[in-house]
Amino acid sequence: MRELLAKLTGTYGPSGNEEEISKVIEDEIRDYVDEIKTDVMGNLIAFKKGNGQGKRVMLSAHMDQIGLMVTHIDDNGFLRFSNVGGISVLNTINSKVIFKNGTIGNVSYESEIDNIKDIKLNRMYIDIGAKSSEEASNKVSIGDVAVYYSPLSDSNGRYIGGAMDDRAGCALLIQTIKELEDCKNDVYFVFSVQEEVGLRGAKTSAYSINPDVGIAVDVTSTGDTPKARTMAVKLGAGPAIKVKDGSVICHPKVKGLMIDRAEELGIPYQLEVLEWGGTDAGAIHLTREGVPSGAVSVPCRYIHSANEMVDGADLENGVKLLVAILEQEIEL
Ligand code: CO
Ligand code: ZN
Repeated sequence: MRELLAKLTGTYGPSGNEEEISKVIEDEIRDYVDEIKTDVMGNLIAFKKGNGQGKRVMLSAHMDQIGLMVTHIDDNGFLRFSNVGGISVLNTINSKVIFKNGTIGNVSYESEIDNIKDIKLNRMYIDIGAKSSEEASNKVSIGDVAVYYSPLSDSNGRYIGGAMDDRAGCALLIQTIKELEDCKNDVYFVFSVQEEVGLRGAKTSAYSINPDVGIAVDVTSTGDTPKARTMAVKLGAGPAIKVKDGSVICHPKVKGLMIDRAEELGIPYQLEVLEWGGTDAGAIHLTREGVPSGAVSVPCRYIHSANEMVDGADLENGVKLLVAILEQEIEL
């Protein structure tokens, strides 16, 4: 799992630029699925046929990550930028970033600002070390997107790196594809695009798949750091079964079946109420006449920073839970 996570988090893929990460995922799973395709939006959709009269299940983990889009290059070669998804000032100051072509930069802010509260993204810039506008323009164009540069590290059984949101979820789906054997249900594994800018890939893929059940796999916040905002989720206490977030109230039967499978197998789990945010289940459940939907979440600290942290055991248990959910008959 470590190697897979390192590969996935080290691959470039901000919203709207998912080609490279899609290719890496496709190479990982091609031999384990019955069909695989990329749709108009760029969603990678893999299908595994079940061996019974089971349900059509759609699983979705988004493969895009947040980024910084270049809006202007000044005479001295400094780049102004806008956010692609949830880039915050505090998480971005002095972060190292990388463009698709490998160009590296540091993110800083106008030094005349003396109160950190006055810093807005439009008073920040990326410094790629260029000495002039021409030099910068040779490397980067308007509209190019940088992502946090943060190779994976291990510490005490936990992983620290960029893009855990949601490459950790992608890793869970990939591992589930590899371990799924005796499956009653027909399963569509979607590696969705453009989640970070509004659940866009999940919306169109859910329409085309027309599933009986939808399950998003994404990261969620935790409440276990010093003076954190109150939240019952902890790192290392098992995958979280979502009850609600800002985009979805999970279907009680989908939530219930996840809890049943976890309890039967003694898989540790926790219940997640995220008071903000959203995930692909938010789009899936509103498809056509409605789709019963839920989500399995990987607890993650420091979401949307360059150094997101997840727990190795949560990943292993997340795979066990997904396999158990898919292998058994789903009653709705
Ligand atoms: Co996110
Ligand atoms: Zn996410």
